Amino acid sequence: MRAYDVILKKRNGGELTSEEIGFMVNGYVEDRIPDYQMSALAMAIYFQGLNERETTDLTRFMVESGDQVDLSGIQGFKADKHSTGGVGDKTTLVLAPLVAAAGVKVAKMSGRGLGHTGGTLDKLQSIPGFSVEFTPQEFVDIVNRVGVAVVGQTGNLVPADKKLYALRDVTATVDSLPLIASSVMSKKIAAGADAILLDVKVGSGAFMKRLEDAVALARLMVNIGSRLGRNTRAVITNMDQPLGRSVGNALEVREAIETLQGRGPEDLTELCLILGGHMLHQAGRCKVPEEGKKYLEKLLDRGDGLAKLKEMIAAQKGLPEVVHNLELLPQAPCQEEFRSPAEGVVEKINAEAVGLAAMILGAGRETKESSIDLSAGIVLHKKVGDAVAKDEVLAVLHSSERWRIEAAREKLREAYIISNQEVKPQPLIYEVIS
Ligand code: URA
Repeated sequence: MRAYDVILKKRNGGELTSEEIGFMVNGYVEDRIPDYQMSALAMAIYFQGLNERETTDLTRFMVESGDQVDLSGIQGFKADKHSTGGVGDKTTLVLAPLVAAAGVKVAKMSGRGLGHTGGTLDKLQSIPGFSVEFTPQEFVDIVNRVGVAVVGQTGNLVPADKKLYALRDVTATVDSLPLIASSVMSKKIAAGADAILLDVKVGSGAFMKRLEDAVALARLMVNIGSRLGRNTRAVITNMDQPLGRSVGNALEVREAIETLQGRGPEDLTELCLILGGHMLHQAGRCKVPEEGKKYLEKLLDRGDGLAKLKEMIAAQKGLPEVVHNLELLPQAPCQEEFRSPAEGVVEKINAEAVGLAAMILGAGRETKESSIDLSAGIVLHKKVGDAVAKDEVLAVLHSSERWRIEAAREKLREAYIISNQEVKPQPLIYEVIS
């Protein structure tokens, strides 16, 4: 077989066989196929697409390119959850302990990631002492003992994705549905859980800006998961404005703790309960997801989710008292208000612009090497639909360096649209796909 012929076949719209896909993935990981041929194939896929069978084969060969996490040492049902990413998305910090409090094991490997704020691992590391580095055996032991752990990747997971993603990033081939779906699902399948819940975000702060694209991506990922024997479900959720009120690592941990204390923002609380209801349903713990949601509401009210988070923090060497004393989290020395230029109603908050403002404040990474200011970020005092008076506080900006606040203020001016129109409430959930 020759790489040239596989590229030509896809360029001309042909359907690739399993052997051809395996030949390309394995050859690329083993350095027999050079970057220029793999990028030509990625571009051919970008234009010609892959059908579901081809995408599933691509995912499978990517999974098999490296280690797979063995969770067989964990007793009980293992659930995993993945978000396609959004601004202020701290659902894992609330959801993982809450679902674990209901008796479903949550063994989660998370990323740091580039972007407006750090990934879940960065957020968790704003808890003093918190560690995300554990051996596979320690990971299994913590999940068995506590019911939940959120750690960094161990082993050589999906090397094909690491190499291919870096190549796509510089060859304008990231935004291809089959390439995104196989990239996400290969990592989830390799992570070893029995069930996967995908939170596919759509809107101004999400990867997918249009509902029909989010639905198509979700369908494809669910079908790949099912074809590869995993109980997979997707919930399409709103990311047209930031989720909750806080954007930034320590600020998001603070908000997650407040949510588990029962005093979190309504949208974040509701979303976590809905997603959690689906996870309990996937685990066979309830007849319908709504029943699972009701049960989780009870656990939340009783403080069981907070207690579970405290146990998880202690097991991962962090300071457990943080769940009762939020002052133990990093605090930014510079905090300045951002006030409304006019009277009216908040019509829109462009989530992407808020994310960029948070990044300017120091909350995110521009390159893999950049360091993060864990205390930096934004707390939104007004959200879509809220009435505001002229000069009322819309948000508070947090940073370690004052010059960053001025730069971020400019971005935030772009983000907030104040008008006199009536604003319709936005849906939190668009669709569930299973
Ligand atoms: N996230 C991923 O993990 N992979 C993609 O291709 C895009 C977003």
